[in-house]
Amino acid sequence: MLLHDSAAPPVADPAFRGDVLAGLAQPQKAVPARWFYDRTGSELFEAITALPEYYPTRVETALLAAHCSEVGTRLGPGRAVVEFGSGSSVKTPHLLRAVAPSAYVPVDISGDFLRASAAALAADFPALPVIPLEGDFTRPLALPAAVAAAPKLGFFPGSTIGNMIARTATDLLRTMRTSLGTGAMLLIGMDRVKDVDILLAAYDDAAGVTARFNLNLLTRINRELGGSIPVEAFAHEARWNDRYARIEMHLVATRNVDFTVEGQPFAMPAGATIHTENSHKYGPRDARLLLRAGGWSPIAEWTDAADSFALILAEARPEKSAP
Ligand code: AVJ
Repeated sequence: MLLHDSAAPPVADPAFRGDVLAGLAQPQKAVPARWFYDRTGSELFEAITALPEYYPTRVETALLAAHCSEVGTRLGPGRAVVEFGSGSSVKTPHLLRAVAPSAYVPVDISGDFLRASAAALAADFPALPVIPLEGDFTRPLALPAAVAAAPKLGFFPGSTIGNMIARTATDLLRTMRTSLGTGAMLLIGMDRVKDVDILLAAYDDAAGVTARFNLNLLTRINRELGGSIPVEAFAHEARWNDRYARIEMHLVATRNVDFTVEGQPFAMPAGATIHTENSHKYGPRDARLLLRAGGWSPIAEWTDAADSFALILAEARPEKSAP
């Protein structure tokens, strides 16, 4: 009989372990933002999207509702829609209703979440083939054979591209171009540069939800990597970095702290930080240049009256030589 020792710690994800140990060993400590999203982190992010200060989700959803039919008219029916980092797929029904797709391929690294949301969506669109693909969309994707012949529409909402520094963002856009093929289209959401007070409030809300989201990373490290980080000795901080046009989130040590993670010792003096997220913001020209650098030609864009968020449609044109 196989016995289950319920007291045994869960086996740590080696990628999480590697990123945390390497990131904490740097002079400026840093942990990649993708590790926010354990179960609690995903729930806290859902709560962030409903906060009065957090405009991106609301504005992008309204832009999709208002302009998807124009996307549909421009593209015509029959595209296979490939959504990158689909998560709970809440924005997708607007798009699917408007573009009459031949199939929907949600791609996400979190398999359980992916299958649950794909099943819910398939129930709402009974005639649409829904083919979830579990995987890391930062690597080239092997798309399902059933969509090989269809022209593609990539969907990358939420300004997730903002988490990446320019080099990583262009690498990702190029990888998407490779995965989707020449002639593909991409509908991408990008957050705009704007008044710093509005940006700071969006990442440091009055109810403290973003602070809990940020601090939950330490709780996750303690639980999954056997850490001894004194969570109560850290404070959430959102900063505007003007040179890089980005919001940064940090966890600031409010006193001198010593702790271990996976048996390795770390020390931080009061005031030192762990950098946990970048959220890059793009002006209209910045956004178009980033897309072109990644191999996508912008062909249409939609913004709200305050120009706070942009939805951009771009095309993977065949390579040609030009001056
Ligand atoms: C999911 C990466 C788009 O950068 O606005 C929200 C994550 N972090 N509040 C963002 C986030 C703090 C979000 N993205």
